[in-house]
Amino acid sequence: MSTEEFTPEIVAFCCRHCAYSAADLAGGARLSYSPSIKIVELPCTGRASVIEVLHALEDGADGVVVAGCLPGTCHYLNGNTQAAKRVGRVTDLLKEIGLDDQRARMINISAAMGAQFAEKVQEFTETIKEVGPSPITRKTRPNAVLDTPEDPGPQVES
Ligand code: FES
Repeated sequence: MSTEEFTPEIVAFCCRHCAYSAADLAGGARLSYSPSIKIVELPCTGRASVIEVLHALEDGADGVVVAGCLPGTCHYLNGNTQAAKRVGRVTDLLKEIGLDDQRARMINISAAMGAQFAEKVQEFTETIKEVGPSPITRKTRPNAVLDTPEDPGPQVES
């Protein structure tokens, strides 16, 4: 599959105070970034658990970005540093199970950084385009990479 054909599905867990506002600012300024980015608003990225990030990947996302406040500015003191550690655990797990660890990323942004938000999520989208479709998504996307002749998929017993 060429990178032109592939539009990655990205989930962005955004903290309400900074990243979500930055995304809103980017939208209001009509800055362009991939329309396939699904933004999930959280009170703080400290709420983004390892399981939630993994579930987003399991549910069909090709990549997940966790977007929190700049270092030292989390409204809940250390939610963004906790989130960064959790994203690190997710990338370790991805490596362990043979997936590209670039599929999860933490970014830090302030509410005033609409242009930077658009740039960072677009850059992440380009990275995921290079990495390719997630093999986990084969249930929802029949042409995903695991649907090869060696992997005929679920078999129905007669
Ligand atoms: Fe933004 Fe915690 S309030 S990351």
